Amino acid sequence: MERRHKIAVIPGDGVGSEVIEASVVVLRALMQVDPELKLEFLMGDVGEPAFEKHGNPFPEETLQLIKTSNAILFGAVGKFGREVILPLRQGFDLFANVRPVYAFAGVTCLKHNVDIIIVRENTEDVYKGVGYTVDDSQFVALRIFTKKGMERIIRYAFNLAKREGRRSVLLAHKAPVIPHTDLPFLNYFKEISQEFPEIESKDMLIDACAMQVVLKPEMFDVILVSNLMGDILSDVAAAVVGGLGVAPSGNIGENFAMFEPIHGSAPKYAGTHTINPIGAILSAKMMLEWLGEKDAASRIHQGVSKVLEEGTVRTFDLGGSSTTEEVAQAIAKKIAQ
Ligand code: IPM
Ligand code: MN
Repeated sequence: MERRHKIAVIPGDGVGSEVIEASVVVLRALMQVDPELKLEFLMGDVGEPAFEKHGNPFPEETLQLIKTSNAILFGAVGKFGREVILPLRQGFDLFANVRPVYAFAGVTCLKHNVDIIIVRENTEDVYKGVGYTVDDSQFVALRIFTKKGMERIIRYAFNLAKREGRRSVLLAHKAPVIPHTDLPFLNYFKEISQEFPEIESKDMLIDACAMQVVLKPEMFDVILVSNLMGDILSDVAAAVVGGLGVAPSGNIGENFAMFEPIHGSAPKYAGTHTINPIGAILSAKMMLEWLGEKDAASRIHQGVSKVLEEGTVRTFDLGGSSTTEEVAQAIAKKIAQ
């Protein structure tokens, strides 16, 4: 029986289109080996190309197209990030930003035994964009946490740990110094952890956690963290396993989700076809998993693992000189075998 999914493919700007084209190459290779998997790609503009065409970085027609899709595959947006990425995350209430950090064999990593899932809260904190200025001399950005927002991300992290057969969830926070927000977060965390006796729950100060992610990453399993702290921590963690080029993410809500590499639009590399597409390709893998396509997702994982382990086809960030397209083709070929 056919399994149909409508994918809103939103490349954005900068290197977004190169890495998204590369992931579409891989998705098409999957459909070749699994003819019942039917992915329909709906192409939408955001960011600079949309601004040039419509005078708006997030045009209404793209929003309508997204609303007819089952999931979004997103590239990157540079200077219009606030106008595009935040409305997508907040507008569709994609409250969990899931960022796996995994050390693939064959990649030069600071540490090799790393298999962490960062669960970053994705709708609250300073990203709510609320603040004010007093007399042009005081500049205030409000760090807004809600009970509902905290409770649902805590439950999400524990349920994910359970589903993925993980042993622990660790909350990274700054409760002693920022009690208004981080203390209730820690308290709800301790309370809700009781519902999950099979999962160990721990907590750590965010600064210590950032250091240990570099020095002893093998001690972590699932890390739960608030929005801005998670933004920073996930870049640090990515650096440990080979950099932003291999780091995927999923922005997950109740019934809808968006998948994107965690790197930005890297405008200086746009059009050079040198950017590593693996972050985007692994984001497509996460998308398939979320759509219930476990086998297809694991085929991507295998393909990526083999290409990285062999090491002959790789982009400059991993020490090679292959193009974005060559990496995509190499992975597609592994999938076809
Ligand atoms: C990310 C990015 C975004 C963020 C920007 C582009 C809004 O850095 O996805 O990590 O801060 O969340
Ligand atoms: Mn970031």
